[in-house]
Amino acid sequence: MRLFFSFLVTLTLTSCASDPASIAKVEEHAVAMPDRFSADAAMDVLLEGGNAVDAAITAQFVLAVTLPEAGNLGGGGFMTLVMEGKPAFLDYREIAPEKATRDMYLDDKGNVKPYDSLFGARAAGVPGTVAGMWAAHKRYGTLPWQRLLQPAVTLAEKGFEVPKALADNVVWYLEKLEKRGLKGNFSKYFGHMHANEVFRQPELAETLKRIQQEGRAGFYEGETAKLIDAYMLKNDGLINKADLKNYEAAWRQPITVEWQGYDVVTSPAPSSGGVAVAQILGMFAARADDIEQLEHNSAAYVHLMAEISKRVFSDRATYMGDPDFIDVPQAALIDPKYIESRAAEVNLTAISDTDAVKPGLAESEDTTHFSIVDKWGNAVANTTTINLTFGSGVVVEGAGFLLNDEMDDFSAKPGVPNFFGAVGGEANEIQPHKRMLSSMTPTIVLKNDRVKLVTGSPGGTTIISSVAQSILASLYFNLDAEQAANAPRFHHQLLPKDTLRVHEGFDATMLQALSEMGYTLDKRRFGDIHLIKHTPAGLEAASEKSGRGKSMVVGKDKRN
Ligand code: DON
Repeated sequence: MRLFFSFLVTLTLTSCASDPASIAKVEEHAVAMPDRFSADAAMDVLLEGGNAVDAAITAQFVLAVTLPEAGNLGGGGFMTLVMEGKPAFLDYREIAPEKATRDMYLDDKGNVKPYDSLFGARAAGVPGTVAGMWAAHKRYGTLPWQRLLQPAVTLAEKGFEVPKALADNVVWYLEKLEKRGLKGNFSKYFGHMHANEVFRQPELAETLKRIQQEGRAGFYEGETAKLIDAYMLKNDGLINKADLKNYEAAWRQPITVEWQGYDVVTSPAPSSGGVAVAQILGMFAARADDIEQLEHNSAAYVHLMAEISKRVFSDRATYMGDPDFIDVPQAALIDPKYIESRAAEVNLTAISDTDAVKPGLAESEDTTHFSIVDKWGNAVANTTTINLTFGSGVVVEGAGFLLNDEMDDFSAKPGVPNFFGAVGGEANEIQPHKRMLSSMTPTIVLKNDRVKLVTGSPGGTTIISSVAQSILASLYFNLDAEQAANAPRFHHQLLPKDTLRVHEGFDATMLQALSEMGYTLDKRRFGDIHLIKHTPAGLEAASEKSGRGKSMVVGKDKRN
């Protein structure tokens, strides 16, 4: 029996933090990464004695080089951690620039301009990634910052062999830009990329070296800041030197909820994901026993989850936004009594009328995720994004990195859906320095204070479904990591009305039953789960097979 299971005493989340003997060692390292470059680089750091945060920092910078669709210097993200038994949450989400205004994406008639918040310099929020990694390193890092940046510098300078999926994405994106008449410099930077050939990024390498040498200041001040400022001035962008200098990542209290004997540690506002996942898991627990022999991915299960999601997304649209700007009633939204009352509204046999589902408290396609567990039992779940694939599609000239188009996650106009079909109102309207509402939900589940599951996914609003379903598949239906990451998933978000987005791979009779209930089925894949599960036999790590991820467990006696 492993050391992990030899602790019989149940410790509280806080009490185990200061007692080194209580740290739940797992004696293995595991990484579940969106590509092989980040997986190998992160595992090297762990084998060199670095901890989960060291490995996460290396992975984050490597992904900025090898996974430009989502990995980034010019974006942001969230990191959920359990270090020495103590949960923490790092918010390095982008913020609106000083010069941003509420109606900045509306035309003279008050209509939303279609691509302004999605493409070009004006779509970008002030990037948070470098400040986030710097803050994580300051608090938890053990290996030198310079060492952790080196793999990214080498991959940018010497190049890396381009995976076919990346080369295909570049071609697809160039065609899309062409078709929409969107002009920028994407082709200049990525147009010469070819599958299986070495691709070098000299400007990006120089930027990474500045960050390697100067830390946070290597991005937010000096040469890099000058290049960003100049690019913005030339291209109608809003971010200036003061925006960059003043950007701060924020340590926040993670959401921690008890669920079926586990403690789920997940993302607080400005993510809507943690509240949503807590509501889904809570409502599920309240109603699952009302269905006889509830089977994983049966029509009854999918319908129950869709009914739950209707209510979750109604609350999301109304209450969620940046807690530094608005009062997010987070505690009320995850209060067990409230969740129980919402669960009671669920109709187990028919679809609830969409218009009748109101926010309950009233009176009433790229992001990337990775998961790491080190041999000391520390865990990192990190989701990072520049919003859509290749972000705003423009590269900071001279600095070589893509900018985010995260401004689209704000509500440009009340009730008008953003790219992900999410609607919002005042809570998520644009204000200078405000963080736009996110669905990113990096999550760690603990059992008796020890890491049981680390999970997360990209996919905009579908992240919430992917994460909740990966937890249910792993811990309620007891699938192993590989099965849980690859089981077909579904998503419902209130609007469009009674529409279920479904993966391939569901049983045809089950889908038929859902159609007959009145659901419209939208067969489009979403998400890319990278999860690590702790089992009595040790760690299991899995990356969804449809992506280009790589996961591995390295222990005393295995490397797989
Ligand atoms: O923060 C959010 O919720 C979105 N900007 C995430 C975008 C995303 O996941 C796109 N990936 N497919």
